[in-house]
Amino acid sequence: MTQRFSFSLNATSGKARTGVISTPRGEIRTPAFMPVGTAATVKAMMPESVAATGADILLGNTYHLMLRPTAERIANLGGLHRFMNWDKPILTDSGGFQVMSLADLRKLTEEGVTFRSHIDGSKHLLSPERSMEIQKLLGSDIVMCFDECPALPADRAALETSMRLSMRWAARSKEAFGDRPGHALFGIQQGGLEEDLREESAKALREIEFDGYAVGGLAVGEGQEAMFGCLEFAPDQLPTDKPRYLMGVGKPDDIVGAVKRGIDMMDCVLPSRSGRTGQAWTRRGQVNIKNARHADDPRPLDEHCTCPACRNYSRAYLHHVFRAQEMISGMLLTWHNLHYYQELMQGMRDAIAEDDFAGFEARFHADRAQGDI
Ligand code: GUN
Ligand code: ZN
Repeated sequence: MTQRFSFSLNATSGKARTGVISTPRGEIRTPAFMPVGTAATVKAMMPESVAATGADILLGNTYHLMLRPTAERIANLGGLHRFMNWDKPILTDSGGFQVMSLADLRKLTEEGVTFRSHIDGSKHLLSPERSMEIQKLLGSDIVMCFDECPALPADRAALETSMRLSMRWAARSKEAFGDRPGHALFGIQQGGLEEDLREESAKALREIEFDGYAVGGLAVGEGQEAMFGCLEFAPDQLPTDKPRYLMGVGKPDDIVGAVKRGIDMMDCVLPSRSGRTGQAWTRRGQVNIKNARHADDPRPLDEHCTCPACRNYSRAYLHHVFRAQEMISGMLLTWHNLHYYQELMQGMRDAIAEDDFAGFEARFHADRAQGDI
């Protein structure tokens, strides 16, 4: 078993990279997609099923778990891996982002954020120090700095003030994290869409020194074109020998565009959430299983997909169980979507290893241009 956290870059194709992150809990093949397990579960999936889709790592959330069931309770029960029966790596977000989007009566100061729980109204503080403490109690393998993520559009002065606060919090996060061999701490770059603010942020993070670097503050309302515009320069401002993680992204075409621009890791609720609302993602785009056109269709969602939903069930069945609000609907569509996302990542890893990312991208867009069957 490896004792240390490390990243080895194995091949590049243009700016796209493939490699392996080694942790004591296993290897993470990059580019990696991390399914979201917010409340100690990837909704509608058994952990062994999540692993069967090809996921090497899951994402958990400080904000949700601190409120329910609490980090102390999880620590007493042996940590998050044992609690949720997932023994591979877990990355936890710091709570900085979720507190701003979910909590009530937030008050932001230099110290941190005080807020009321969206669940029961109880009062809490999240600060860099408390976030590091919670992520340690959870036993997270990859810990994220406590940061603030402004919604876009925001004016430049607000972005600058917020980014500088996040950089002071990054220094405090590093100090509070301390020295924990086998565990990693990632910094989070902020600065909105402004190239010079992104550079100032990257410089501050490089000086503190992290095990990996996230591009934060994107996919918050700016649209794909603006996000890709920012990704033309943001990843290049971060060290090449450390993993680069784009937080909260995205749709399949966002993911392909991000990898093309030098991103190694991503997470998004989309494949799991949309599976529960009847949306499937296939090579040929998005399919709405609610649609009446599937009611008598004996064909699978995608004849080339090897997931259980596609191997064993018809579109007609998937349509029926969605309409009937049967639990298996969310289970099968989530499985399919996570499988599709992991196949997409494997396809990119293979193409980069063969230095043919451009060919992969062309095939990806050509398949989608055909539209659903
Ligand atoms: N999730 C999506 N974007 C962000 C971000 O900017 N910061 C954090 N902590 N989490 C995120
Ligand atoms: Zn499938």
